[in-house]
Amino acid sequence: MTSQGPPSPESPPPATGPLSAFRGRRIFVGVSGGIAAYKSAYLVSRLAQAGAEVTVAMTRSATRFVTPLTFQALSARPVYTSPWQHLESQDPQHISLATRLDAAIVAPCSMDTLARLATGRTNDVVCLILSAVDRLRTPVILAPAMNSVMWAQPATQRNVALLRQDGFRFVGPAEGWQACRHVGPGRMSEPDDILAETASILAS
Ligand SMILES: Cc1cc2nc3c(=O)[nH]c(=O)nc-3n(C[C@H](O)[C@H](O)[C@H](O)COP(=O)(O)O)c2cc1C
Repeated sequence: MTSQGPPSPESPPPATGPLSAFRGRRIFVGVSGGIAAYKSAYLVSRLAQAGAEVTVAMTRSATRFVTPLTFQALSARPVYTSPWQHLESQDPQHISLATRLDAAIVAPCSMDTLARLATGRTNDVVCLILSAVDRLRTPVILAPAMNSVMWAQPATQRNVALLRQDGFRFVGPAEGWQACRHVGPGRMSEPDDILAETASILAS
């Protein structure tokens, strides 16, 4: 008789459906400082279960919302929280990691991180790693998350337009209940929607 216990973390069951696009893929998840950061824990868990090698980097603000340990446990990999860490090799990590990726996701992508990406800033570990990603080869998907007034700001809308022109992809934001007790556009898309969009980009 074979026992059907829970899958071991080393060998997740083969992903089926759209999530099978992630099997064996190297996926970067950048987490910035928004209340939706807790949802990215589920996102990382689903990617790991789908057989992806997931590397997480967090801005300093993101670490105020969720601990790096949560992402380390879910991804079973080191988590980058500073541009000055060299966790896996002696190469500048942002180059060696960025050149090996199949896709990069930033979720949540805060208003400030959007602004930094739109202006080519590299003064945090998430933007630094993304600065070394060649978007002609590796899709970078942003999942904005902010209050509806922040989302509607002309500065945010200008940055989104610039980022689209520069080849970044967007998922959301969605409309609905926000932690600030507003209802409107700006809420981070659900992790399953982010995964579905990323899987379809990977499959195309
Ligand atoms: C409780 C709390 C919730 C926040 N939620 C958001 C948010 O959902 N989206 C956002 O853009 N900024 C949010 N902020 C502000 C950002 O954390 C702040 O702009 C920070 O500098 C972003 O840094 P980062 O982009 O480097 O992660 C929040 C701040 C606090 C204190």
